[in-house]
Amino acid sequence: MESARVSSIENQKRAKPFLRWAGSKRKQLARLGSFWSPLHARYVEPFAGSACLFFDLAPSVAILGDNNCALIDLYRVVRDEPERVYRRLCRIRRDSDTYYRWRKKKPNALDPESRAVRFLYLNRNCFNGIFRTNVKGEFNVPIGVRPGEYFSKEDLILCASLLKRAKLVAGDFAKTLEHVKAGDFVYLDPPFALQSRRMFRHYGVRSFQTTDVPRLADALRTIVAAGADFLVSYADCAEARGLARRWNAIRLPIARHVGGFADRRRRAYEWLITNMTLPALD
Ligand SMILES: C[S@@+](CC[C@H](N)C(=O)[O-])C[C@H]1O[C@@H](n2cnc3c(N)ncnc32)[C@H](O)[C@@H]1O
Repeated sequence: MESARVSSIENQKRAKPFLRWAGSKRKQLARLGSFWSPLHARYVEPFAGSACLFFDLAPSVAILGDNNCALIDLYRVVRDEPERVYRRLCRIRRDSDTYYRWRKKKPNALDPESRAVRFLYLNRNCFNGIFRTNVKGEFNVPIGVRPGEYFSKEDLILCASLLKRAKLVAGDFAKTLEHVKAGDFVYLDPPFALQSRRMFRHYGVRSFQTTDVPRLADALRTIVAAGADFLVSYADCAEARGLARRWNAIRLPIARHVGGFADRRRRAYEWLITNMTLPALD
């Protein structure tokens, strides 16, 4: 277990997520990271998204899951071929015609590497890094106004080296949680069911909803019964308050950026719910 700490110290440069992702926890890394201990055996994240906490903590053993199968496929390709992916990504022009030509390509008609390059290109160049599909499951986000610079090749190689330490699971959170064992740390960051109507197709058609909260509550009990620890992030809502009453919990202010619209960049609250002792938080 000590090796988990040693390996994260050895990584002199911290890995940053290479995806833009709705609901990313990039701004809360210090807060969330204070729940992780080097004594934890493994890091498990069943709603991985851009997996920014995983990349920041650099645990030596991990399990990452998400029900967005294209996302998990992308992680597999980046893990195995970061340099090829980077080279191909940088060769694609970043203009409107090229963007819509790539958006139009049918992922199933592409080989896995081209599918991954397409996913990454669209993610980095679309409006606000949103992942949203139409009823046919086709990605339908327009091009972004000022998509920022890409990460460096070295950044992607560093992410790939960390992904090599992770088992990758495509599917519902329950499938990832089947692997949980004593000593694990499980970070759960589901889409806020509160927002499920609006977020519904942002994450895919079978995205987590309010009706899944009882499943989540059962899963937390199962994690603790297995001898593992958990941390949940959840928006302030009736469901979260129900979960919070059963465990240690704290409600904290967050700056929520919804869709990048200035009028929606307002102060909101989020719960952190855990079976562990709450550390001192700002
Ligand atoms: C709020 S995002 C996670 C963000 C992540 N913590 C980050 O910092 O980027 C929620 C993720 O849950 C995934 N998801 C939605 N429903 C799911 C389900 N039923 N099982 C597993 N993953 C699900 C979505 O695809 C999305 O990537």
